[in-house]
Amino acid sequence: MKLVLVAACALLDVDGRVLIAQRPEGKQLAGLWEFPGGKVEPGERPEETLIRELHEELGITVAEPCLAPLTFASHAYESFHLLMPLYVCRRWEGTPMSREGQALKWVMPNRLRDYPMPPADEPLIPHLTALM
Ligand code: C5P
Repeated sequence: MKLVLVAACALLDVDGRVLIAQRPEGKQLAGLWEFPGGKVEPGERPEETLIRELHEELGITVAEPCLAPLTFASHAYESFHLLMPLYVCRRWEGTPMSREGQALKWVMPNRLRDYPMPPADEPLIPHLTALM
């Protein structure tokens, strides 16, 4: 089966809230909430992917040492296997803004269950509540 590598990042603010983004209409899994990130392009390391994607999607600048690996999601979708490292980041430059029309929300990790997520993302939630 095809293997897809996606890097995701939990941005945590000073109150311990995490930023989630809603997948826009027209995309697979539209309407579901996810941690910002995206596909790891050939030749990229996941950290490089996140620096690129967080800038493109949210307009923020992240320094690589501020990206701390937390865990991995591994999920078999019908047509591909998704492997998704999740990083945590508490420091960045700029204010996250929606640059691609996606809705954004800051939520406490113990409220993430109120926001439907793709099946690959759901097992990540306990790793974030453990940080509270
Ligand atoms: O974001 P993008 O559409 O490039 O991601 C590729 C695929 O990986 C999605 O179609 C979705 O099935 C899966 N995905 C996911 N959880 C995410 C991001 C992507 O399950 N947070």
